[in-house]
Amino acid sequence: MFDVGYDVEPFRQLCENAPTSSVYPVDRFRVEWGPIFHRGRLDGTARVLVIGQDPAAHEAVARRILCGVAGHRVQGFLAKLGIDRSYVMINAFLYSLFGTDAPTHTQDQLDDRFDWIEAILETGAVEVVVTFGAVANKVWARYLQNRPPATPVTQVAAVHPTAHLSDAQLLDNWNAALDRAHAAISFPDQNLPLIHYADDWDDSVDLVAIPGFDLPAGLPAWMAGAQTWAVRGDDRAPVPTASRITTTIPESDRIDR
Ligand code: URA
Repeated sequence: MFDVGYDVEPFRQLCENAPTSSVYPVDRFRVEWGPIFHRGRLDGTARVLVIGQDPAAHEAVARRILCGVAGHRVQGFLAKLGIDRSYVMINAFLYSLFGTDAPTHTQDQLDDRFDWIEAILETGAVEVVVTFGAVANKVWARYLQNRPPATPVTQVAAVHPTAHLSDAQLLDNWNAALDRAHAAISFPDQNLPLIHYADDWDDSVDLVAIPGFDLPAGLPAWMAGAQTWAVRGDDRAPVPTASRITTTIPESDRIDR
């Protein structure tokens, strides 16, 4: 099973018209890796809309957002809500940030994000919007000001999956977010009792694999795994870090020849 991509409107047109470096300047964004649009359902079946921040190295290779460790944590969060298929994810920025701080969105950047949010809400059945991190939260707040949805949607604001907080602080925040999201979802994929996070990450349950049906056809299964397989740059050759992503098959998936 794989994700068929952007073959339906209005998403096809949104990809066709994706903003380029005139909207995402090269000094702040890694536009050379292309726009990375989404992950999840665009067929109207999503019950949860996730808004993340910006794509990183794994996402640039897999061509879907939230595929690295942040994505596995988000997938685990959704699993606790009984959501294993009916979600869709976009980022606050269409391109990967270059540099440490997120710049304030320009109106053109926002307009494209608003078009995506509107398309998802208008073609679907989203019950909850979960924003991960302050940048995503701001995009949603600006969306509500600019294009108030006809039917109100519950927002749950959570800290980003890789926020610089202690594990206990992050998981405490996520437990509160789980409570609010759980109460707002009437049609989960699985009716599960809500089990909160402990004080520490337990990677064996809290990191959930990216389903093959979220990824483009032909992507090897190890690219859906939780082990880090892509890093920016490498220590061999003198190219700018932004110009190289090193991809390494995890040891457990290597073929012995
Ligand atoms: N990858 C994404 O696509 N978004 C995030 O917010 C973090 C990592």
